[in-house]
Amino acid sequence: MRTLRTVPELRTAVRAARRQDPTGAIGLVPTMGALHDGHLELIRRARLECEHVVVSLFVNPAQFNASADLAAYPRDESRDAGVASDAGADFLFAPSLETVYPPGFATSVQLSGPIAESLEGAHRGAAHFHGVTTVVTKLFNMVQPDVAFFGQKDAQQVLVIRKLVADLDLPVRIETVPTVREPDGLARSSRNVRLQGDDRPLALALRAGLTAAERAFTAGARDAGTVHAAALAAMTDLGVAPEYLALVDPLTLAPVDAIDDGTLVAVAAHVGGTRLIDNTTLGTTPNGRR
Ligand code: PAJ
Repeated sequence: MRTLRTVPELRTAVRAARRQDPTGAIGLVPTMGALHDGHLELIRRARLECEHVVVSLFVNPAQFNASADLAAYPRDESRDAGVASDAGADFLFAPSLETVYPPGFATSVQLSGPIAESLEGAHRGAAHFHGVTTVVTKLFNMVQPDVAFFGQKDAQQVLVIRKLVADLDLPVRIETVPTVREPDGLARSSRNVRLQGDDRPLALALRAGLTAAERAFTAGARDAGTVHAAALAAMTDLGVAPEYLALVDPLTLAPVDAIDDGTLVAVAAHVGGTRLIDNTTLGTTPNGRR
């Protein structure tokens, strides 16, 4: 695996890969590093589906709403390079801040409407997804992949990216990979390393809430209020209050009153000083696989 830092270096490498293998697909896995098994699953999927796999590693300041969160974000590029390579990456694109945002950078790609403005958009602020759509548009233009891989763990982010691609006619196919979890059910996240001591078991409250919603649905509940109450009780029993716990349409993110097969349950909560998110799709096998 080769590590590339500048756009000309990246373009030369991707162009050479395309020349070698004109029909081979270029796959991109965008990440902010601190790679865990969730990221590695995306890379393994890209390896299976594409002839050339580019993993990008860039901690994007534009999408952090709290400077303390950005400062505390775990970084270990040499470890990331090792595990990305083992999972099948051909190239690690790890640009500097100045490469992505040179002095005088003045453009922002912004989605409006409920897909970007609800849930994470409402709670973290609109700037979060503006930061994501701006950097992902740049990464797509830098790498020019045929396929890009995103995790269902960030279900709203996937919808935002799909809308971005559709609205701007970006020539890239988006693939979604199911959420990878710890053995006890906690969704893998780069922020999990910050869960110290008593916070680690408390973090299971998010998954407990989602499981309670799944159980209520399986038991026949179709009223959003009933399912919401079951999920909320499971979380508060463990001593965690959600920042939001929402039952929404999986494509529009509009709140639903009547639950249907495919309804998305999305949750965010602070556990100690760490903000966690998770989600599940009702009426499917665990992990959102249909
Ligand atoms: P990051 O949080 O590093 O996540 C990179 C990708 O890994 C995202 O598509 C995310 O959904 C996926 N991922 C994270 N945890 C996962 C898990 N437990 N199971 C499956 N997939 C998981 O998301 C971002 O970075 C950034 O917003 C980015 C898209 C790179 C733009 O800066």
